Amino acid sequence: MRLVSIDMLKPEMKIARAVYNQGALILPVGRSNVTRYIANLRNMGIEYVYVEDDKSSGIEIPDAIAERTRNSCKQLLQSAIQQFSITDKLETKDLENCVGSVISEILKTPDVQVSLNDIASNDEYTYTHSVSTMVYALMIARKLNYSEQKLTMLGMGTLLHDIGKMLIDHDVMFKEGQLTQQEYEYVKMHALYGYQAMRRITVLPEQVRQIAYMHHERLDGTGYPQKLHGDELNEYVRIVAIADVYDALTTDRCYRKKWPANKVMDFLMERSGTEFDPELVGLFTQQLAVYPNGSLVRLSNQFLGIVSNQNRSMPLRPFVRVIQDPQGRDITPFEVDLMKELSITITESELEIIRNKPPVSPDEL
Ligand SMILES: [Fe+2]
Ligand SMILES: [Fe+2]
Repeated sequence: MRLVSIDMLKPEMKIARAVYNQGALILPVGRSNVTRYIANLRNMGIEYVYVEDDKSSGIEIPDAIAERTRNSCKQLLQSAIQQFSITDKLETKDLENCVGSVISEILKTPDVQVSLNDIASNDEYTYTHSVSTMVYALMIARKLNYSEQKLTMLGMGTLLHDIGKMLIDHDVMFKEGQLTQQEYEYVKMHALYGYQAMRRITVLPEQVRQIAYMHHERLDGTGYPQKLHGDELNEYVRIVAIADVYDALTTDRCYRKKWPANKVMDFLMERSGTEFDPELVGLFTQQLAVYPNGSLVRLSNQFLGIVSNQNRSMPLRPFVRVIQDPQGRDITPFEVDLMKELSITITESELEIIRNKPPVSPDEL
């Protein structure tokens, strides 16, 4: 399996992870001849898909939880929030069950080095993002040996952290291109709106509500809306801040291309100790692949390859399946273990992203 930009789709490629839009299955696993869907995918805001082809056969992309669990959580969240917007009542029991199943899967596989980013259409971005952010937050928390009760609290808060976005005007939320300063200030209100909405759900603990209120606060006081500092941010909020930024930046948005995983890790590490809790950043990054399986990389000898496996002890030196020579000609694929070939390094990653559009600085985080 590998991740390709939809511009790179070829007739012989088959869909390796199902694609959904508004809860409906658009492309099932195994679907071939996918080039005819390129325009539709683009209209839905989907720029990347996971495919299976000869070049990537046998490459596995590990995820922290099963695809089935992710999708059912996403659907539950979507219907719970839509229900809430109509009736002002939230089905917390269903959501707790979904958090519970994610927790048990995450605790079962403590050593997965996660490579996979879930793909979302524009319409379901907030739900996909909320579930992915919850998975990342729980991955950090498992390293802190949280009790079941604390994990559930963190999981619920993370799942609902962006609930305030449903109160933001859709056209501003999904605007293509840069937001004006005024629009950005308005979008930032989602943290407060979320907290206010959750105060009407009396069964939710205050800590869960606070996650929605404070997930954009930063340790050095540069966050929003209250510009809190250091000790004013509890551990749940510190965890969600990291998980939220990681998922936001590694995902395509209507106003910005996704960043390569290694660049997002640099972003977190540069801000570790100022904006983010350094211990928590460390616990998180040790569980992520710097160069995810299935992503394209350029090697220092100018050959092009697909990352095929990880070396746990040397995250910057994975196994690479070389597929193109320096002149861009397809070659019979062969594997290189960068832990053994020490003279070769990775010079560029997730090339299709770099070629299409250079990453810009994140505005709405
Ligand atoms: Fe947010
Ligand atoms: Fe978020």
